[in-house]
Amino acid sequence: MEIGDLDLRNLLFFNPKGGVIQFMGHRVLLIDALAMGLLRKELISTLGSSVARNILTRLGYAHGWLMADYLHDYMGSTNPELLEDFSFGPTLHTLQGLVSANRNFRMNIDGHPHHITAMWENSFEAEQHILQFGIGEEPVCWTLTGWVSGYGSRRAGREIYCIEHKCVGKGDAFCSIESRPKEDWGGAIDDQLSFFQEESISGLLKDMTAKIRKAEKRLWQLQKLLDSEVYPPGIIASSTIMRNVLNLARRAAKVDSSVVVTGESGVGKEVIARYIHNVSARASRPFIAMNCAAVAETLLESELFGHIKGAFTGADRDRMGIFETANGGTIFLDEIGEMPLNMQAKLLRTLQEKKIRRVGESKPRSVDFRVIASTNRNLNEEVEAGRFRLDLYYRLCIIGLEVPPLRERPEDILPLAKFFLDSITESAGCPIKGFSSGAVEHLLLYSWPGNARELQNVIERAVALCSESTITLEDLPPAMRKGVSTPKGCDDINPLEEVERKYILAALDRTKGDKKLAAKKLKIGLRSLYRKLKEYEDRGSANR
Ligand SMILES: Nc1ncnc2c1ncn2[C@@H]1O[C@H](COP(=O)(O)OP(=O)(O)OP(=O)(O)O)[C@@H](O)[C@H]1O
Ligand SMILES: [Mg+2]
Ligand SMILES: [Zn+2]
Repeated sequence: MEIGDLDLRNLLFFNPKGGVIQFMGHRVLLIDALAMGLLRKELISTLGSSVARNILTRLGYAHGWLMADYLHDYMGSTNPELLEDFSFGPTLHTLQGLVSANRNFRMNIDGHPHHITAMWENSFEAEQHILQFGIGEEPVCWTLTGWVSGYGSRRAGREIYCIEHKCVGKGDAFCSIESRPKEDWGGAIDDQLSFFQEESISGLLKDMTAKIRKAEKRLWQLQKLLDSEVYPPGIIASSTIMRNVLNLARRAAKVDSSVVVTGESGVGKEVIARYIHNVSARASRPFIAMNCAAVAETLLESELFGHIKGAFTGADRDRMGIFETANGGTIFLDEIGEMPLNMQAKLLRTLQEKKIRRVGESKPRSVDFRVIASTNRNLNEEVEAGRFRLDLYYRLCIIGLEVPPLRERPEDILPLAKFFLDSITESAGCPIKGFSSGAVEHLLLYSWPGNARELQNVIERAVALCSESTITLEDLPPAMRKGVSTPKGCDDINPLEEVERKYILAALDRTKGDKKLAAKKLKIGLRSLYRKLKEYEDRGSANR
């Protein structure tokens, strides 16, 4: 058999139904030439021409090297005489559909072994390059010259390099290549060698990575600047709902209307009220908070409006109330729902007139203030029950802001935990860095009825108990350690189905039976949730 008799059909093996195609006994792929062209385009546009050239040259090199390797095994046993013929290379190259490489193929030029020249036609690579980029300035058959170099080096057992003098990709009528052992090139290919070497790409990439890092750092600093404007330091809002609350608060800060912040105990109502003040035009003036539930009813009026000397027993001198102290600033009335009805009437008058009267004084004083009130009661219900004045409700509730409970924004749990941990350890100077995975799991699973404040207390307690550099499950309160836990030993491993059932039922419990919300949180479809619940029900009745 001669090389010219070689037929693709002798070298290819394939199952007609597809799945696997082999060439000389090794798996190959049929890849569309255009797809290769697109890959080339992406490489060039993302990494630049020289890195792309380096990658593609080395891809071709590996391909050529492997072909020579396979050839050795494949033909060595059946047609060893063919192995001596170096025109096998262009034939294989051609049979693979990469280029027509047999024309004017000359070997051993001027008696130099491995010194080869050839003319190429139909280079797929030149074709794709022109398609993606148009006619270029330089030869573009990078994988093909890589292929010849790899193939030649493997066959000759020494470093062979192929370069392209003419190329269809740069407007020539055909591509012409020359391949020689490294020594025979002298310095003529020094500028091309880097494309064959791994170092050049890793060097370039290192350089690029450093540049990217620098750019990222700058971006991060910019983002921090932006964030500190939008999300101030000291307020954690990783969840979208909390960010929405902050956005609303920022809008509320632009006007002077009264605001009522509602939400469960410990959710961060005061945090939001302070935030509104801090980003409002009143920021340079005082923010005065008063908890209406904590002040005895008899003292409330004096606390709010002040008194004059002798107004009541013990009033031994004139005293300003918080409306006067806060002049120009913001008054935060916490637990407004606890305010007695008679005080509610006085507060309403103050809000309407923007004037106060100190206890024991008849002359009104003008004051400039903004009121933010908060409550964890449902003010509507309080109005209906006759415990809260409807007119005051309307007056106060110009803008209503509801801070959602922590269990509805689990994305905030860990950032809050870390925030509390950092502020506690910073002031205490202790070296606790973070949380064990078990602790994290339970922090996330717990329903946080006491919200951010409870989380803060849990972290404070854990820091006090913690003896290592991370907070572990054992440092959390016993009540929190219940629920789904990781097995302690082999005997403790439960069937996954059982764990899932418990978890789903617990999730439903936490959402107070809201299946839609539970499904959303569990990231499963509502239908799947119903199906699972039905299964539990059926299983339950079957077990009974
Ligand atoms: N988003 C948050 N980022 C950082 N800390 C927060 C956040 N929310 C709450 N906290 C912290 O949690 C604790 C409770 O918050 P805050 O006092 O504002 O809650 P509250 O809703 O007013 O509580 P209560 O109903 O008991 O009056 C505070 O120490 C507060 O600093
Ligand atoms: Mg509060
Ligand atoms: Zn070419």
